Amino acid sequence: MKVGIVGATGAVGKELLNVLEKRNFPVSELRLYASARSAGRSMVFRGKELPTEALPETPLPVDVVLASAGSSVSRQYAPIWATRSVVIDNSSAFRYEPDVPLIVPEINAHAIRRHKNIIANPNCTTAILLMALYPLHKAFRAKRVIVSTYQSASGAGAKGMEELLKGTKEFLAGHAVEHKTFAYPLPFNVIPQIDAFQENGYTKEEMKVLWETQKIMEDSQIKLSCTAVRVPTLRVHSEAVTVEFADPVSPEAAKEVLRAAPGVDLVDEPASKRYPMPLTATGKFDVEVGRIRKSLVFENGLDFFVAGDQLLKGAALNAVQIAELLQKPIAV
Ligand code: A2P
Repeated sequence: MKVGIVGATGAVGKELLNVLEKRNFPVSELRLYASARSAGRSMVFRGKELPTEALPETPLPVDVVLASAGSSVSRQYAPIWATRSVVIDNSSAFRYEPDVPLIVPEINAHAIRRHKNIIANPNCTTAILLMALYPLHKAFRAKRVIVSTYQSASGAGAKGMEELLKGTKEFLAGHAVEHKTFAYPLPFNVIPQIDAFQENGYTKEEMKVLWETQKIMEDSQIKLSCTAVRVPTLRVHSEAVTVEFADPVSPEAAKEVLRAAPGVDLVDEPASKRYPMPLTATGKFDVEVGRIRKSLVFENGLDFFVAGDQLLKGAALNAVQIAELLQKPIAV
């Protein structure tokens, strides 16, 4: 396949190159696009230097576009790219359109359609949550979910990571910490705001987790409340999750289900201090799940903790997995 990466120089873009290479995706030609600022800059793929091109206003000469340059770029250009290529879009621009499939391959590969030639990649927090929640939902029928997140700086892209590193140095040197990407200095702080506040008091990031969970799990009845918090880690989003199920559940039965779930690494040995953490989940394709215990609040309830590399399963890996599905015949 001829593949184009839009936003190749960004945090997710770089991981897209890495994942295409690691998964040995059948790339016959790779084109890299970024803003005019990066034109001419080169990036390495399979040991060869490839130039980055300024994004043109025309369709791209590729079969698949992997887009990760933000919502406004996708909103403007994806319909143009889609006249010639299948677009796998990492932004939130099209996720909630009913005729745009929103896909996590382990969960709803069957929902892939060509329709508009645009397939949406979910929000990173949602993708990581659902890797654990969906198999449990299938086994025990989840009714209500409460999630608190610990989201890393790279959720805000390369500039988020830079701001955290630079700000940490400023803080340690006793200087004022500058901030632009985040609402407040992130080093040695946590910020309970990701994206804009909505009329109901939730942020858009928090609402995305509800909307996307219902769409991907094809269950409009499931209730979910999220508190999304930015923490000073570089990558990996962690989430504390409480679920009330319709059916009886036990930690042992849940572990059995998660052990067999694709893309999940059960890391749950409290006695030897083994549990999910950014430290161990960084760079890993699988999402770590652990701290599984019976809820003290809900009769059929569980509490657990997940940690997943949001640049991978929450973004680049999921997008490449969707591209892999395109190699099989799919409905129009
Ligand atoms: P550039 O590096 O030239 O600014 P991140 O999410 O890590 O901030 O990355 C965003 C990615 O999207 C970068 O590769 C960035 O390129 C790219 N990008 C941002 N704006 C545009 C644009 N208007 N046209 C094309 N690419 C863009």
